[in-house]
Amino acid sequence: MFSANQEPITPIPLPPAADPQKLALGKRLFEDPRLSQDGTRTCISCHNTRANGASGNRLDTGRDGSPLPLNTLSVFNAALSFRLSWQGSFRTLESQAEASLESPAVMATNANDVAARLADDPEMVRQFTAAYGHGPDRTSLLDAIATYERSLLTPGSRFDRWLNGETTALTAEEQDGYRLFKTLGCASCHQGVNIGGNLFQRHGIFAPLAAPNPEILRVPSLRNVAMTPPYFHDGSAATLEDAVRRMGRAQLDRTLSGQQVQAIVAYLRSLTGRYQGRAVAQAPP
Ligand code: HEC
Ligand code: HEC
Repeated sequence: MFSANQEPITPIPLPPAADPQKLALGKRLFEDPRLSQDGTRTCISCHNTRANGASGNRLDTGRDGSPLPLNTLSVFNAALSFRLSWQGSFRTLESQAEASLESPAVMATNANDVAARLADDPEMVRQFTAAYGHGPDRTSLLDAIATYERSLLTPGSRFDRWLNGETTALTAEEQDGYRLFKTLGCASCHQGVNIGGNLFQRHGIFAPLAAPNPEILRVPSLRNVAMTPPYFHDGSAATLEDAVRRMGRAQLDRTLSGQQVQAIVAYLRSLTGRYQGRAVAQAPP
């Protein structure tokens, strides 16, 4: 008898209840250029929440015009991973947000300076006071951003509907793909609610995969993966087919047949969820 709680993957939950004033403030801050030193960029410059929560680029551009060292991760469902960033360097959304603000290549400022800038704006002071009982400061700034990020969940994918017992939500080929995903061993690393995001692993175990450094990565989430090309920490896989074939070789010492790749990719395409009533979509390049 089928039972969802025997599967290695669990459905994306609905976003947690949150104070609507903190939520609205966090969304506004995420899109506010005053969070960057020179007012030229916002968090959505690289994390397009109207599309896939990331960008369509292999590598996004730092403030000096040179490419960032790592492919941009999606902010969708990031709150459900046990650590944040490719290397899993952060344990909380607040500490990750502070690092984004302080990164010279990203925002090149800091939470105290941003709070001081916002305190010059009576409308911002009003919104912070309504949400936190006082004007903007470092803690409330980071809390509002993190509160908003916790709401960026994408439930409702066809795979999650299938996990929830809707047996017709997946085609036969997609179900074959999911079976292969488990029997080949993909699920030994990509598992849990985010189908990743809960383990550290070496990449390129049996054969080189991508740029050799960093060697140890947080296993990336495969949620919405069909909508987040290109793939790998260096953005070196343009298509999902290529990424799956290379994973088989590098992580499992398996040469997957064309049919196996096709079935697994079909399964991975069923992982696209919904945000605010819309299907997650690829970001324009
Ligand atoms: C110039 C592009 C750029 C901008 C602007 C940017 N980010 Fe990012 N973001 C990235 C990249 C690249 C990564 C992956 C970095 C890494 O893993 O070391 C990332 C990772 C993240 C993650 C981790 C996701 C995960 O699954 O672990 C979060 C959360 C995040 N950013 C939030 C923010 C916030 C909040 C802002 C605004 C204050 C912001 N980002 C601004 C490029 C950007
Ligand atoms: C030993 C652990 C391990 C196994 C087994 C494994 N993976 Fe991965 N997977 C990873 C790691 C680590 C990365 C990140 C690699 C990188 O970015 O260089 C990754 C990345 C990916 C990506 C790209 C995600 C993105 O957003 O860039 C896809 C797709 C993927 N794996 C699918 C699979 C499939 C399908 C299988 C089975 C054929 C599989 N993986 C088996 C650890 C594993």
